[in-house]
Amino acid sequence: MKEQINTGRVSFDFTGKIVIVTGAARGIGRSMVKYFVESGALVVAADRDAEGLTETCTHLGDRVVALVADISSADGAKAIVDEAMNKFGRVDVCVNNAAVAPHTSLLKERTEVWDRVYAVNCRGTFLMTQAAAQAMIEGGKGGRIINFSSAASKRGSPGGAAYASSRAAVEAFTRVAAIELGPHNILVNTVSPGLIDTQPKPLPEVMAEGLRARIPTLPLARPGEPEEVVGVVLFLASDASSCVNGEDVRVDRGASVGTRYTKQVVDDDPRYFWVTEQG
Ligand SMILES: NC(=O)c1ccc[n+]([C@@H]2O[C@H](COP(=O)([O-])OP(=O)(O)OC[C@H]3O[C@@H](n4cnc5c(N)ncnc54)[C@H](O)[C@@H]3O)[C@@H](O)[C@H]2O)c1
Repeated sequence: MKEQINTGRVSFDFTGKIVIVTGAARGIGRSMVKYFVESGALVVAADRDAEGLTETCTHLGDRVVALVADISSADGAKAIVDEAMNKFGRVDVCVNNAAVAPHTSLLKERTEVWDRVYAVNCRGTFLMTQAAAQAMIEGGKGGRIINFSSAASKRGSPGGAAYASSRAAVEAFTRVAAIELGPHNILVNTVSPGLIDTQPKPLPEVMAEGLRARIPTLPLARPGEPEEVVGVVLFLASDASSCVNGEDVRVDRGASVGTRYTKQVVDDDPRYFWVTEQG
């Protein structure tokens, strides 16, 4: 059966909302900036990649402000939140999407690479959450913080020791943040994408080959589109999710719960003929 993807037909209204998106220079972050702007939001798009940021923001008009900053430093995180406060006067939504995912075998993992992965994926998420939450509390209107994890945190896969564990740490961090910030009417949730087809994806050939081989084993036998992750982020940023807090929402078409089953399911196990009335 041909699958219909209807994400583009669902609409949210973020008119007047101030939204921060990190990791906005490419991939899912770029797509989120576009959809938030199109839904009426005023957006601070932040990334360490100036060129990619310019590309993201071209043609989006003056409702988006681009800022080159590194979320792994306290100064960088502060600069991003300050930009939102100075330009727009408030922060309503903060999407902590920026991350790095270098893969290597556990036995060859270098400490400095491990530390850099954690500096961006964990410390960066913490610094952004803290700075954004302080601004939201100051604004007195609550807010939404949406952190990013990955399906990789749910299943072991080779080469992902630093990345997968850093994403799992974000889920644990999110639960604590949800409890501590809830009294300030700030809801904090995590989104866990599966394999998403973000282009261009300049992967080493051996990794690209591994991904191609995985696609037929995925429950829907296809990677997700960035827009399908955006749909869930927009939901978590909207009034529709006012009772969702501390959750991890998987956007992986079931990939983290199992692999595609291609054979026929039969009920001819003789042990259970008395149950199934077969045989
Ligand atoms: N694409 C996938 O298949 C996939 C799967 C699971 C989870 N995810 C998660 O989704 C999110 C986005 O994924 P993507 O594939 O679009 O990523 P990407 O690698 O395409 O883009 C990440 C962006 O973050 C930026 N960035 C990295 N470190 C930064 C720092 N210190 N400060 C500021 N910006 C920084 C990069 O410059 C880049 O523009 C990530 O959190 C990732 O872990 C993605």
